[in-house]
Amino acid sequence: MKTGGRLYGIGVGPGDPELLTLKALRLLQSAPVIAYQSATDRESIARKIVSQYLPGNQIEVLYHLPRALEPEKAKSIYDQEVEPIADHLASGRDVVVLCEGDPFFYGSFMYIFTRLSDKYQTEVVPGISSLMACPVSLGVPFTYYNDILTVLPATLPTEILITHLLTTDAAAIMKLGRHFTKVRDILHQLGIASRAKYIERATTTQQRILPLDEVNPEEVPYFSMIVIPTKQKL
Ligand SMILES: C[S@@+](CC[C@H](N)C(=O)[O-])C[C@H]1O[C@@H](n2cnc3c(N)ncnc32)[C@H](O)[C@@H]1O
Repeated sequence: MKTGGRLYGIGVGPGDPELLTLKALRLLQSAPVIAYQSATDRESIARKIVSQYLPGNQIEVLYHLPRALEPEKAKSIYDQEVEPIADHLASGRDVVVLCEGDPFFYGSFMYIFTRLSDKYQTEVVPGISSLMACPVSLGVPFTYYNDILTVLPATLPTEILITHLLTTDAAAIMKLGRHFTKVRDILHQLGIASRAKYIERATTTQQRILPLDEVNPEEVPYFSMIVIPTKQKL
């Protein structure tokens, strides 16, 4: 039997604080401890999304999960970062972990889930993912009927991106950042650049939508996406 506090992983949506589920809101406000991740030098995006709903009397745990590390090094850092959350659970306190978008869709919560869910009762609350929000914010119907949708991290090598883009009807290309130029050039090479739409920080007050060729590659943030909607069928 699992004892101790309960672990919750809640999706807080893509940025607009109103795109939070009622269940996420209830759990967020009732837990004694909330945890969230951020880059060492930046404010947590997930916390910023929910800041207006916080009751102000909770213990807050900030953790860092650095990206682009060797798997072995990452594993030991992740093990350490999870410890303060495990300590609260062991002391019987429920912990709500905030996760931008949906927790199980490239979410940082998964690294906590894989380490702690065997030991503590765990519940995951889905969130509105950027995959759903970006096409809507762009105003482009995304997939119809039997269309195949492919999700591609821009961090993949050129040949893999090309292989998948050649065999899909619609695509979402995530994690652009410094990989933007590579992706833009591939889309031109494949003749699909005119269908591709670029958006950054979707649903937030800083949302920007730009034609692909007007994007300054030096300024592409990590929270950006290229959406390639299916060809209109009817
Ligand atoms: C580590 S993944 C996290 C995805 C998140 N769990 C979700 O469900 O949306 C981060 C990537 O999601 C995309 N993303 C997340 N939020 C976004 C937003 N508001 N606007 C555009 N892209 C976003 C970006 O491509 C970013 O590189």
